[in-house]
Amino acid sequence: MKHITLGDLDVARIGLGAMGMSAAYTGAGTDDAESIRTIQRALDLGVTLVDTAEIYGPYVNEELVGRAIKGRRDEVVLATKFGMVSHAGQGPGHLDSSPANIRTAVEGSLQRLGTDRIDLYYQHRVDPATPIEDTVGALADLVSEGKIRHIGLSEAGVDNIRRAHAVHPITALQSEYSLWTRDPEPDVLPLLRELGIGFVAYSPLGRGFLTGQIKSTADFDDSDNRKTNPRFEGENFEQNLRAVAEVEAIASDVGATPAQVALAWLLAQGDDIAPIPGTKRVSRLEENVAADGVELTAEQLQKLTEVSPAVGEHHNEQQMKWIDR
Ligand SMILES: NC(=O)c1ccc[n+]([C@@H]2O[C@H](COP(=O)([O-])OP(=O)(O)OC[C@H]3O[C@@H](n4cnc5c(N)ncnc54)[C@H](OP(=O)(O)O)[C@@H]3O)[C@@H](O)[C@H]2O)c1
Repeated sequence: MKHITLGDLDVARIGLGAMGMSAAYTGAGTDDAESIRTIQRALDLGVTLVDTAEIYGPYVNEELVGRAIKGRRDEVVLATKFGMVSHAGQGPGHLDSSPANIRTAVEGSLQRLGTDRIDLYYQHRVDPATPIEDTVGALADLVSEGKIRHIGLSEAGVDNIRRAHAVHPITALQSEYSLWTRDPEPDVLPLLRELGIGFVAYSPLGRGFLTGQIKSTADFDDSDNRKTNPRFEGENFEQNLRAVAEVEAIASDVGATPAQVALAWLLAQGDDIAPIPGTKRVSRLEENVAADGVELTAEQLQKLTEVSPAVGEHHNEQQMKWIDR
């Protein structure tokens, strides 16, 4: 697979998101053996960037990733995130990027992942109660100590990206970016390019919607967070199916699957963009990784760029409050 650099970190340009193996979507946690096979197959196929977070589960997703990469640590660019679990008492679901919380979080992540170093350690969401300079200062200390190798941010806005990068080089921003989430294009991507920061695109398949495999939400478990995602609700969902039909039509022209063209379109946006599609199944992993070889013509790219915009915000109201703009 083609490699790119995020800041100065080399990665194979398609990564693997592990979240849905343990959290967020229907079926999470039901087949850990297949999830582990999926991570190992990814490494066999040349994937390097494997993405998890302390909050996924919480904790169990890091443990799962740790089990899967045992004995293969050096093949992995291991990425995890802190800041959505407050270890001072409030627990999971509370933002806390204070230096003390980071110290506790990193030790837990290292232990669960079964490693002595995290290659890319992201702040999961900007914490309004902690100046970003304090957060990045604490992370810079962890870099000096060798516990983490690179620093990332997730869903940070332009001001905080600039402020953070002034304290210590930021290697990557991880935010939602896909055919139907174009928010980073006007302001964030130009800033990242000015500063030499890479972009890791999460939910690059629109949480599965862009693959064309979701025609109804009736089978979603109550714990499936798409149940409260405005794009999957009522009339919005019906309208968004039309955008998916457009992607399906272009995919059929290309001779690839909708998931593959959604990923190939992202890859074509620049050699500083690494999508991390999530799947807990070997077959889909193989399909997604094969997007590395899908070539789109200028006309196909243009048609994909013009696919109807999504109707509805990309997170529910509560989660949107945590997106730093
Ligand atoms: N930084 C953040 O705040 C943040 C937020 C969300 C996600 N993330 C990261 O980004 C990763 C990817 O995002 P995501 O999982 O939300 O969304 P995604 O990659 O857009 O889509 C994942 C969904 O699509 C399905 N899928 C994957 N490949 C498919 C294929 N080829 N055909 C049909 N369905 C397919 C998966 O189902 P199966 O698993 O059943 O195959 C899963 O339900 C996560 O795993 C996580 O590591 C980060």
